Amino acid sequence: MVRPSSVTLKIIMAVSGILLILFLYVHMIGNLKIFLGGTDFDHYAHWLRDLGTPLLPHMWYLWIQRGVLTLAVLAHIYTAAVLTVRAKKARPVKYAHRPKVQGSYAARTMRWGGVIVLLFIIFHILDLTTGTVNPIGDHEHPYANVVADFAPGRWYVTLFYTLAIVAVGFHLWHGIFSAARTLGQQTEKGQRRAKTIAAVLSAVLVVGYLSVPFSVLVGLVD
Ligand code: HEM
Repeated sequence: MVRPSSVTLKIIMAVSGILLILFLYVHMIGNLKIFLGGTDFDHYAHWLRDLGTPLLPHMWYLWIQRGVLTLAVLAHIYTAAVLTVRAKKARPVKYAHRPKVQGSYAARTMRWGGVIVLLFIIFHILDLTTGTVNPIGDHEHPYANVVADFAPGRWYVTLFYTLAIVAVGFHLWHGIFSAARTLGQQTEKGQRRAKTIAAVLSAVLVVGYLSVPFSVLVGLVD
């Protein structure tokens, strides 16, 4: 059986991670359309379903995107798991004293953060894609679904989204930094640059995503 080297696995992890980040950015920009009102937001969601037509039939682009994202998530989890097992085998005895500098909070929460994000994605699809757990769940009116979702009475949904988005932020913060290092930013200056870029990219994403539920919560979007 082929045994890919750890460098190959790290590259697959970095590239699949970058694909997922690209999706997160595009999705966040799309979500911000909520501030333009219901007509614009719903129009955007309908346009997404017809993207690529007439070359592609209705919904095909979305299904291709779903396929690519699923493959990227699976590749990301698989490479993370194999690399973790290899790291454990390489050092079966725990460090008696692990200095704090070994990992920031973000680095130490990569695995649990990843699990929270995965659970969130399952809930999110049942909530805003299939509408199963959404109070409205009307496929034709995503704006109404979002507004109903984050109504003040459903504060626990906003809380869960907040936890998950902050987890995404931490995950990205460390992930972008590691990916930049894997892909070549290995000098001290390069690492400093990677750290700053990682912090800015993840902070923008967290603020952009959280602006939607909190604007609904305080009545700015209704
Ligand atoms: C407050 C933040 C968010 C809001 C308001 C939001 C909103 C939405 C909406 C309205 C849809 C359905 C679009 C449609 O009707 O076609 C959707 C789908 C989706 N969202 Fe989000 N989203 C948020 C955060 C996230 C995050 C953090 C992730 C990933 C970690 C994510 C991943 C997805 C995925 C994978 C889909 C399914 C796309 C598909 O149908 O193929 N979302 N989101």
